Amino acid sequence: MGAHTKVSSALLLLLLLLLISISTSTATPSLGIKHRRPCKRLVFYFHDIIYNGQNSHNATAAIVGAPAWANTTILAGKNHFGDLVVFDDPITLDNNLHSTPVGRAQGFYIYDKKDIFTAWIGFSFVFNSTYHKGSINFAGADPLMNKTRDISVIGGTGDFFMARGIATLMTDAFEGEVYFRLRVDVKLYECW
Ligand SMILES: *[C@@H]1O[C@H](CO)[C@@H](O)[C@H](O)[C@H]1NC(C)=O
Ligand SMILES: *[C@@H]1O[C@H](CO)[C@@H](O)[C@H](O)[C@H]1NC(C)=O
Ligand SMILES: *[C@@H]1O[C@H](CO)[C@@H](O)[C@H](O)[C@H]1NC(C)=O
Ligand SMILES: *[C@@H]1O[C@H](CO)[C@@H](O)[C@H](O)[C@H]1NC(C)=O
Repeated sequence: MGAHTKVSSALLLLLLLLLISISTSTATPSLGIKHRRPCKRLVFYFHDIIYNGQNSHNATAAIVGAPAWANTTILAGKNHFGDLVVFDDPITLDNNLHSTPVGRAQGFYIYDKKDIFTAWIGFSFVFNSTYHKGSINFAGADPLMNKTRDISVIGGTGDFFMARGIATLMTDAFEGEVYFRLRVDVKLYECW
């Protein structure tokens, strides 16, 4: 008799624990959002040619602010800390700088840590072609040593009206301190 009640109360406890775990897992919607599939996915490349004192004719980016111990011609030492770079870069559909651009990537990045190579980046993709019209706006921390970095898609206009999502950045090429190419994998979770 005693053994029987022990077994049934153990079963009851198990059932209770199961119920609790089910209710807590349904109470965390953030988990669900993380595994949601994007409603739109687009991949672009953009090409940044940084002015280095000699290439003003083909530079697409310029250092516009530098710390007092550096200048705006050459990126500062100490992981370029304090440099602010403004860019107007061509966007292409493949990784070739000479492909026909489909738009411009316009914005800035700030190197914001002395002891690590990292930046903060904010820019828009501006499209005005038969392919896409409108803009997508991006912002976020860009820890450059990571192979891939996620930044926020904070909005959009035109074809990208009210866009929201995540963009995964990858440095696809890096040539000294003059040229780099970013691959941008845009995943929108809100589409209109
Ligand atoms: C910029 O122009 C120079 C001189 O024409 C050329 O040698 C260089 O390859 C160009 N840089 C890029 C990244 O296209
Ligand atoms: C800028 O700084 C670099 C070293 O960081 C130096 O070699 C260069 O001469 C400086 N240029 C100007 C125009 O001051
Ligand atoms: C977009 O392109 C069209 C046609 O070339 C032009 O008329 C229009 O001014 C452009 N709009 C912007 C915002 O550049
Ligand atoms: C960068 O990489 C680190 C370590 O792999 C990871 O923890 C972090 O989330 C990454 N940051 C971004 C913004 O992707």
